[in-house]
Amino acid sequence: MMAACGGSFWLPPTGPGNLRCDKDAAGHWPDNAERAACGNGTTGRISKDMSDRLKAEREAAAARRNLLAQDAIERTGITEEMIRELVTRFYGRVREDALLGPVFAIVQNWDEHLAKLGDFWSSVVLMSGRYHGSPMRAHLPLNLVGDHFDRWLDLFEQTAREVCPPAAAALFIDKARRIADSFEMASATGAGRIASPRHVLRS
Ligand code: HEM
Repeated sequence: MMAACGGSFWLPPTGPGNLRCDKDAAGHWPDNAERAACGNGTTGRISKDMSDRLKAEREAAAARRNLLAQDAIERTGITEEMIRELVTRFYGRVREDALLGPVFAIVQNWDEHLAKLGDFWSSVVLMSGRYHGSPMRAHLPLNLVGDHFDRWLDLFEQTAREVCPPAAAALFIDKARRIADSFEMASATGAGRIASPRHVLRS
C-alpha cells in the first residue's frame, strides 16, 4: 500500500502535485484523504472502504486512549499543572548537578526544552498525544552510561515524591524507569555491549 505512494514509503513522494505520503516538516503524517490521493494515478489509491475503516480504527483508538487517560487521572490525580511543576523542579536540579549538568549544556533553549518535556510527560501519563519527537534518537549520541541513568533517576524520583501524591509519583517513576532501561540498553548496544533492564527492579 505504502509502496505505491510515488515509489518508496521512506522517500519523498514523486506522484502528481507532490502530494505527501510521508511526514511533513513538522513531523505529521498526511491525513487519509491526502494519502488516498497520493500515487501515480494508476495504482496505490486507498479505497473509500479502507479509508473509512482506518478512520473508524483511529477514532476507536482515540476513545480507548481517553478512557485510559481518564482512569489514570482518577487513580493518580495527575494534572498538567503537576507535570509542569515536576519538569521545572527536576530540570532545575539536573542543571546544577555535577554529573548531569555538563551533559545538558547542549540544550540551547531551556524554555523550549521544558515545554517539550512537559508535552512528553503529558503524552506518557495522560496520553495527550502532544509530544511528537524521537527521544531515543536524541539520547544515543550522548554516550550515556549507567552512572548517568542512576543519577537521573535518583533526582527524578526524589522530585516526583516531593511534587506528587504517592499514586502519581509511583506512575511517573514506573514510566521513567522503563524508559531509562530502554535508553540504557540501546546506548549499550550502540557501544557494543549487552545490557539488561535494571531500573524496573529498583527498590
Ligand atoms: C542518563 C540520563 C539522561 C540524560 C543525561 C539525558 C539527557 C538529555 C539531553 C542532553 C537532552 C537534549 C538533547 C538535545 O537537545 O539534542 C535530552 C532530551 C530529552 N530527554 Fe533525556 N536524558 C536522560 C534520560 C532521560 C529519560 C530517562 C527520559 C524519559 C523518561 C528522557 C527524556 C527526554 C526527552 C523526551 C527529550 C527530548 C527529546 C527530543 O528532542 O524530542 N531523558 N535528554
